[in-house]
Amino acid sequence: MAQTETRFYPGMGLTTTKAPFIEVARSKGELYIEQPYELYSEENHEAWRRLYARIQERWQRYATDKFLEGVSKLCLDPNRVPRLEDVNRFLAPLTGFKAKAVTGYVPAYIFFDCLRHREFPTTITVRDINSLDYIPEPDIFHDIAGHVPMHTDPRFADTLVRFGEAAHTAARLVREIKDEQLQVQRLISIFRALARFFWFTIEFGLMRGKNGELKVYGSGLLSSYGEIAHAIESPEVQRYPIQLEWVINQHFEIHHYQPLLFIVDSFDHLFDLVDQLERWMLEGKLNNVAPGEPTMSEEDIKSFLEASLD
Ligand SMILES: [Fe+2]
Repeated sequence: MAQTETRFYPGMGLTTTKAPFIEVARSKGELYIEQPYELYSEENHEAWRRLYARIQERWQRYATDKFLEGVSKLCLDPNRVPRLEDVNRFLAPLTGFKAKAVTGYVPAYIFFDCLRHREFPTTITVRDINSLDYIPEPDIFHDIAGHVPMHTDPRFADTLVRFGEAAHTAARLVREIKDEQLQVQRLISIFRALARFFWFTIEFGLMRGKNGELKVYGSGLLSSYGEIAHAIESPEVQRYPIQLEWVINQHFEIHHYQPLLFIVDSFDHLFDLVDQLERWMLEGKLNNVAPGEPTMSEEDIKSFLEASLD
C-alpha cells in the first residue's frame, strides 16, 4: 500500500494538537524549526486577535510596568500571529534574547540551556479558537504574549540566564556521582527544586508595584484572561513574600488556578534568589526536597545526564 504523504498548503493551520506540520516534524525527531508562517489559517489569526484584544484591559490593570513597557517595545501586531523574526528584530538589540521556534516539549536540560544562551524555546502553534480560555499545552500566545515581553527587561533577562547556569551546575554536580541510582535520585530532587522555583516565579510570580500594590510578572498569569484577575483579586488565593526554602519544597498542580502565589520585591531580588538557589545546590541543600510535583520524565533525566557541558 502506498504511503500517504502529508502535504502542506498555505493556510492549512497551525492549531495546537491539530497541526500536521508539527506532527511530521516531531516524527522526524526535529526539535528546532523555522516558523512556517504561511501555514497559519485565518482562524489562527482570528484566535490571536481575540486573545490579544480582550487581555489589553487586564494587562493595564494587573501587569507590572516592566511587562507593559516590554509589550510596547516589541510592537506586536494585535491582528496577526507574530512572526518570530519580527519579534527578534526588536528584542535582540535590547537584551540579546531571541525567540526560537520549537515543535513542542523541550527536554528539561535543553530548555534551561537555551536560556543560558539567551534563546527562548517558543511554541508556534495557536490554541483552538473554540478553547481560548484554557489549554494545558503552551501555545504562541502564552510564549510570545506572556513570556517574551519580560525578556526585554535586562535584569529579568539576566535572571533567566542565571536559571540556565544553575541547571548547568546541576548537570555538572550529578555527573560526578558514580552510583547510578543515587545520581538519578539527586538529579530528581535538584530538578524539582529548580522547576518549582521557576514555576512560582517566571510562570506565576507576583511583585510589588511602585506604591506597594501587587502586580503580575509571571507568564502563566499574563497569558490567562481569567487567572490574571483571579491572582490579584480572589480572597481565596494565598499570597506570600517569597521564601526560597518554602518554594523549593512546595508542589504544584497545573490544571487549575493557582491557590498559592509568591511575591518578589524586584527583579534584583529575584536574581539574588537564583544565586542563592545555586549556592544551596552546591551545599547539598537541594538533595532531599519534599516529594510531589513536578515529575521528571525519562527524557528529562537523559537530557541532564547526556548533555554536553561546555
Ligand atoms: Fe511558560
